[in-house]
Amino acid sequence: MASQRRFVSNAAHQLRTPLTLLATQASFAARETDIERRTEALQALTRSTRQLSRLAEQLLTLTRAEPGSRAPRAEHIDMAETARKVLEAHAEEALRRGIDLGLEADKGAIVVGDGTMLREMVVNLVDNALRYTPTPGEVTVSVVSVDEQVCVTVRDTGPGIPEGEREHVFERFYRVIGTQQEGSGLGLAIVREVVVGAGGSITLDNAEGGGLIVTVKLPAATG
Ligand SMILES: Nc1ncnc2c1ncn2[C@@H]1O[C@H](COP(=O)(O)OP(=O)(O)OP(=O)(O)O)[C@@H](O)[C@H]1O
Ligand SMILES: [Mg+2]
Repeated sequence: MASQRRFVSNAAHQLRTPLTLLATQASFAARETDIERRTEALQALTRSTRQLSRLAEQLLTLTRAEPGSRAPRAEHIDMAETARKVLEAHAEEALRRGIDLGLEADKGAIVVGDGTMLREMVVNLVDNALRYTPTPGEVTVSVVSVDEQVCVTVRDTGPGIPEGEREHVFERFYRVIGTQQEGSGLGLAIVREVVVGAGGSITLDNAEGGGLIVTVKLPAATG
């Protein structure tokens, strides 16, 4: 109960800041008579609105990922297929950002779980890799079956996450200090809920020469 209360309070604070900004930007735009500056003010307003709706989406996904919030699902999910669809959906963005997005996948990497949430997990990892990797860069997703486990790895050529931060980045709303890109700090919290819900584990490592390697291990479907 205490942690739930803390979460609602944190969420309210996180919503209040951009809402205050929105109100300021709106009144600023309304008062601006110069057409160019008015356009700029409206663009800033649009950006804030987008950030706010991203926050709402992430909050909703996190709630859905929590245990007991959705009816338990035991679908057979092909993780290679899931990854392929996620990468397809991000291909245009990667191209625009000058990032080489690749997939290495085994056939028959099947897990049992909630397909929607497993997809959300991959979406958040790919989203992070694309967002935090500077151009030109590489993001590679691999899906392999090893010893009754399906191993999903997302590696990038970005700055990685300092060792001392690795346990904290899974906390709700936590962002590494100095992170320039926009974000709500909920992606990895969502990923962790999904992984734990599916009976798996997750680790973060920095690649030699820089970049983050996220490794998710999920129990493979039997039979
Ligand atoms: N691939 C990555 N490379 C470098 N830093 C990362 C990477 N992924 C996550 N981080 C760091 O971990 C923090 C937490 O990530 P998380 O996905 O939970 O939140 P977010 O990306 O800030 O917001 P959102 O909820 O919109 O995903 C990020 O703010 C960033 O500082
Ligand atoms: Mg994220």
